[in-house]
Amino acid sequence: MAEFDNFVNELQHTLIERVKAAYGEEAYERWRTLPHRGEPASANCRGASTGTCGDTITIFLTIEDDTVCDAGFATDGCGSSQISGSMAAELAIGKRCEDLTDITGEVVRDRLGGLLEEDEHCAWLAANALHDAVGDYYKRALRRTDNSRKQTLPPETP
Ligand code: FES
Repeated sequence: MAEFDNFVNELQHTLIERVKAAYGEEAYERWRTLPHRGEPASANCRGASTGTCGDTITIFLTIEDDTVCDAGFATDGCGSSQISGSMAAELAIGKRCEDLTDITGEVVRDRLGGLLEEDEHCAWLAANALHDAVGDYYKRALRRTDNSRKQTLPPETP
């Protein structure tokens, strides 16, 4: 039994070392803990992006006074989409809405310490989902403004 346990431990260690070598320390540590996973209870807008791979990344934002107070992500995609969503959410927190478009696919990829070439599109998906979430926030804000304007208009006269 101890021999089998040793074999499993060694195999696990080898796999982890291969993943670290391929993706780097930053990406590996993020993948292990996946900060910002899930939708914050206070989220007030969301955006999603689906790649040609068929996977979708969704970003949830809590925005108050045009500033991101909290953010989260969900994805049905690969490990790279998970760490990309996690990084995009993290980078968004504390930023003003108008600055969120500065968080591009390149920025997400670079902050992860790079991705394998075949996985780079995952960083772009995460950035696109983030930008979509900001668009959703502005749409909702416009609707609220429109509704409150309607409520303050005087009743129509016959
Ligand atoms: Fe589809 Fe990564 S999101 S391969």
